[in-house]
Amino acid sequence: MTPPDRSTAWIDRVNRELDAWLPTADARPAPLHAAMRYAVFNGGKRIRPQLCFAAGRVLGLDDDEVAPIAAAIELVHCYSLVHDDLPAMDDDDLRRGQPTVHKAWDEATAILAGDALLTLAFGGLAHAGLPPTVMAGLADAAGSAGMVGGQSLDLAFEHQAPDTELLEAMFRGKTGALIRAAVELPARLGPADPAHHEALAAFGDAIGVAFQVVDDLLDVEGTTETLGKPAGSDIEQGKATWPGLNGVEAARARADALLQQAREALDALPPGPSRDDLAALGALIVRRSF
Ligand code: IPE
Ligand code: IPE
Ligand code: MG
Ligand code: MG
Ligand code: MG
Repeated sequence: MTPPDRSTAWIDRVNRELDAWLPTADARPAPLHAAMRYAVFNGGKRIRPQLCFAAGRVLGLDDDEVAPIAAAIELVHCYSLVHDDLPAMDDDDLRRGQPTVHKAWDEATAILAGDALLTLAFGGLAHAGLPPTVMAGLADAAGSAGMVGGQSLDLAFEHQAPDTELLEAMFRGKTGALIRAAVELPARLGPADPAHHEALAAFGDAIGVAFQVVDDLLDVEGTTETLGKPAGSDIEQGKATWPGLNGVEAARARADALLQQAREALDALPPGPSRDDLAALGALIVRRSF
């Protein structure tokens, strides 16, 4: 379960891109820009950018070509966390081991910082001259048929518990869509073999759902200290979760089965160290402890 050798370089690369895109913390309006930077540079794992770079390498792309996509996806992810933690949603006070944005600033600043991070994601892609199909793919993943739609279902399921199939449809939206986009969008940069494009999407689909099954498990089994976010928050908020519906053991088995499915999807890609990196990131997602 060791991370790819290139993990550190990939995290550095996306951080440089993000730093270049984000206004400085003292640029007016300074509280807003400081909050945006705080939301981005407060210690995320950068799993989505790593998936993005690994997928790019499988397709023969340079990290520099993929970096704008990695940065845009991470910006959408960071914005989703800022809004997810708001009192109107999960009402959490701790994120990545630090006060959430609405605690460190206020609710209005958290809403606006999220809005601006989302806008910056698309602006960054446009300024970098990326093809419209990449922006369309990110819009689909981020919007009401993707992440935002999943978040809406997540809130609805606090009042009416779903069955497992519907729960996973919600996971595919709130969490899976951006993870799938991380591995699939690089294939839109050039003339990728359709079979490779499809294999990356299938890998992303399975590992994206697995990501949320494990996130739900960690909420039950982890501690606030190791997670850097409040353990037990799901139960407190009355969330529909995989272990909540089917038990912890079944949830672990489901995550393993999804990892297996993701691995099988990789068989259609050219073998080599980059494909191995994707497999390693998949394993890391399912075996992670935070
Ligand atoms: C947390 O995502 C939110 C979910 C989609 C479950 P991560 O676990 O990737 O959060 P960071 O970016 O590392 O903080
Ligand atoms: C997060 O799901 C999904 C998004 C932020 C889009 P959770 O609400 O389970 O994520 P955590 O546990 O707060 O990180
Ligand atoms: Mg949530
Ligand atoms: Mg949450
Ligand atoms: Mg969670």
